Amino acid sequence: MPENTGLSKIFAGAFAVLTVSAIAGLVTMIVVYKVEISEMNPTPRPTPPSTTLSPPPVMRLPGSLVPERYIIFLQPHLYTKIIQEVNVTSPNQTMLFTGNSTLHFRCVQKTGQIYLHSRDLAISDPHLVDKDTNDRIKVNSWKHHEDETDFLELELNGFLEAGGNYSLSLSFEGAISQSLDALFVSTYSEGGPASEDDTDAERFLAATHLEPTDARRLFPCLDEPEMKAVFELTVIHRRGTTALGNGAQSVSNVLDDEWKYTRFQPTQLMSTYLFAFVVSEFKSINSPSRVRIETYARPEAIDAGHAEYAANITGQILAYFEELFDIEYQPNKLQQIAVPDLNSGAMENWGLITYQEGALLYEEGVSSFLRKEVIASTIAHELAHHWFGNLVTMKWWNELWLKEGFATYWSPFAVDKVEPSFKIKDVEVMQELHAAFEEDALESSRPLSADPGEVQTTSEISGMFDSISYSKGAVVLRMLANVVGENVFNNGIRMYLKEHQGGNTDQNDLWDYIELARRDKSGLRAAQLMDPWTNQKGYPVITIDTKNGEIRQKQFLLNDTMDSRLRKEEFISKKGEWILANVDCYGYYRVNYNPENWQRLLTQLETNPDRIPLMNRGQLVDDAFNLARAKLIDVTLALNATRFLSKEREFLPWESAERNLRYFTLMFDRTEVYLQEKVRGLYSFFRNYTDESRVPSDQSLQHNQIYAIQLACSNGLPECIEMAQDKFAAWMNGNGTNRIHPNLRTVIYCQAVAAGGKKEWEFAWGEFQRATDPSEKEQLEYALSCTRKTWLLNRFLEYTLDPEKIRLMDVASTISHISENVAGQLPAWNFVRAHWDYVSQGDPVMLINQVTRRFSTTFELKERTTVTSAGMWLIDGWLEYFARDKESHSAFRAMQQAIEETKVNIQWVRDNKDAILEWFERETAHLD
Ligand code: BES
Ligand code: ZN
Repeated sequence: MPENTGLSKIFAGAFAVLTVSAIAGLVTMIVVYKVEISEMNPTPRPTPPSTTLSPPPVMRLPGSLVPERYIIFLQPHLYTKIIQEVNVTSPNQTMLFTGNSTLHFRCVQKTGQIYLHSRDLAISDPHLVDKDTNDRIKVNSWKHHEDETDFLELELNGFLEAGGNYSLSLSFEGAISQSLDALFVSTYSEGGPASEDDTDAERFLAATHLEPTDARRLFPCLDEPEMKAVFELTVIHRRGTTALGNGAQSVSNVLDDEWKYTRFQPTQLMSTYLFAFVVSEFKSINSPSRVRIETYARPEAIDAGHAEYAANITGQILAYFEELFDIEYQPNKLQQIAVPDLNSGAMENWGLITYQEGALLYEEGVSSFLRKEVIASTIAHELAHHWFGNLVTMKWWNELWLKEGFATYWSPFAVDKVEPSFKIKDVEVMQELHAAFEEDALESSRPLSADPGEVQTTSEISGMFDSISYSKGAVVLRMLANVVGENVFNNGIRMYLKEHQGGNTDQNDLWDYIELARRDKSGLRAAQLMDPWTNQKGYPVITIDTKNGEIRQKQFLLNDTMDSRLRKEEFISKKGEWILANVDCYGYYRVNYNPENWQRLLTQLETNPDRIPLMNRGQLVDDAFNLARAKLIDVTLALNATRFLSKEREFLPWESAERNLRYFTLMFDRTEVYLQEKVRGLYSFFRNYTDESRVPSDQSLQHNQIYAIQLACSNGLPECIEMAQDKFAAWMNGNGTNRIHPNLRTVIYCQAVAAGGKKEWEFAWGEFQRATDPSEKEQLEYALSCTRKTWLLNRFLEYTLDPEKIRLMDVASTISHISENVAGQLPAWNFVRAHWDYVSQGDPVMLINQVTRRFSTTFELKERTTVTSAGMWLIDGWLEYFARDKESHSAFRAMQQAIEETKVNIQWVRDNKDAILEWFERETAHLD
């Protein structure tokens, strides 16, 4: 197996100059970028068509009241099991919850009204007391505002005085949601999957998911992140169930034959979106740790040991962050729970983290080894939120990146500490970099710190959970850490956390502490340095001319022309050697070179690729293709940058090339021939392992073994397809014994179903329904989307409408997978439009991104102009439909992006089709 060459070694000797100049270059480029930006006219943001003529309501609370403490009682009336009584025709399940709450608050500005957030709650019995005098203040009336504010306004008989202390009690009731938001019901079956007519095994649990703005659907509250308070919760729940909350249980007692109550210790000062509770029949296991850590899951999963991996690493990850940030995890317990239905991968509720089963449970012998990476990364991400988000919270949602970008940034550090063999850092960083590059190259992107005026409604707030907040947030932090030095960065972070714990911040608070930690005060201040990266959208492309040392830069947009220049001695190639900028991709920018330097780099790649650091090997390919898309270099140069792959054995360069060539595969048959030849070497490299259903011990090579099979099979390498079919057939005919290695299941199931027909598909469907393990279910779900038979794909699409067949939380990903399949694009797109209301309940932004982007891109690349224009018309028409439909606004920007990318691509294909075709014919001519 090839050794992972260290960087220092690479740049010893002849290339010594580069390490130094690359870092210096980075700082220079930031300076240049800054200069240019101030000269640049800001591009006007596209304004969504206005849907109403009246002025928008003021969306923020008036700020006259400061919450201190909520005393809350909540009673979900849900049964965990439906008891079918004799003579009773309808089952006894009920979706009602009731509650009451007392909010203790201070008044800081005299007012005759109280504004709270409340949505879909029936409110009664307001009781307002002046705590300083013990007098009751009458509430004359109360009403819900009929707009998007979700305000509950109470009209008082008299005034609250500034400096006064008050308490407001309210009773309320609402419905337990069946669409995975607010307080919702999740279902599972005990003792394996329930058959259609067997409801005996069906179980129900109630759980919450309140971020970002659903706390107001659970109890009336001041539902803004800056309105922190202490929460004291009592849950009244059915006997035989367990209630979990943010705090540790303080008392639990039986009330009567049916009910008991559980009271929790008061929380720390926290934002409403972090509030949570769960009522279930789940069991738990403990972790070895300073704080009490409990991992909960379905009793069967616990008994089978599926929570053990998570339980083993959680304490270690927590300890790692405690030491790194030099602040202990304060609550006296940490519970985490695998909820069978959950709308996001995981949610960092304080003291009670919720996860999808697939992000927490690991089944030895069934789950792929690589599943551990997902579990560890998810746990690390959510634990990082304890410091970034829970302890120190963003002032407002426009700077969501201050928690999501940070959690994304820290996660791989913790995983690397706990599981060094995963070598997760490079792959993770490149993933975030590419996700950010892709979204941020569009005119319809947004600045990392968004304009607060544009983040007001619930759907605008939901729209902030995008690749900009997560991925750009993380890579920009990595760049800053690299510029100031990791030690300085971490010291600054520790001071920032200590100073602001329990409070709220904006990005300037962060820059202040990074600045404070810097001993070398020369050059730009942190705030100046970061300003262009966080306050404007997009990123630069740097063009280096190694003949004269000239550096030019402009914003990388798929169609833009702004330019500025600078000259640097260290960028002149003196003895005809190549120069590589942005070593290890710390900078958030693309790099272009003069043709001579490109040629030297490509020659180096073909002769001795290891002289170029791994991340850069991937990035050179990605840059080349994207520069070609933006018409900054010739497309044949990008294609030439894939030649070296025949000898490449690492994952990152392959991943880059495959992602960029994917669309070509659909357009030119020759791509398949070309890739088949390139991947042959990679496939044989792993062949002995694969044939014997074994995997290499090095975790990072395991990724590439899977990739080799996927690429080889999907590009038609006969020995690969045969292998997949043989292994799958052995399983089908093996009376239930599956000998396929867990790592290889996803790819082999998929390729076998793709190469097979009805028999293979129906076998996979049967296994899918039988499976209870989340890993196995996910692998089979994916395989089902791989068939080339449109009628089977249509059947699968129909199944997504039946929650008994496909859980609501899996609908978006299932449809996305189908739309990634060439045969599934049109069916998936038509299906999404026909069933929008149902399918968009899960994750509408993801759905639009996946389904329309792939669809439109592919169509233009195939250049079926009639369909293209029809497709475009559909998207445009649909966009208008969206604009009219307020609920769907969070998907609005995703739609704009889809349209923009499509338009760019159509033009690009027109310009480059002939050149690409010619190139492939030339490269593959010897194979005929
Ligand atoms: N805070 C989010 C969960 C969330 C996402 C709430 C979107 C509301 C809207 C959580 O920390 C998160 O980021 N979860 C990720 C998984 C993580 C490993 C990146 C998710 O759910 O995708
Ligand atoms: Zn997060």
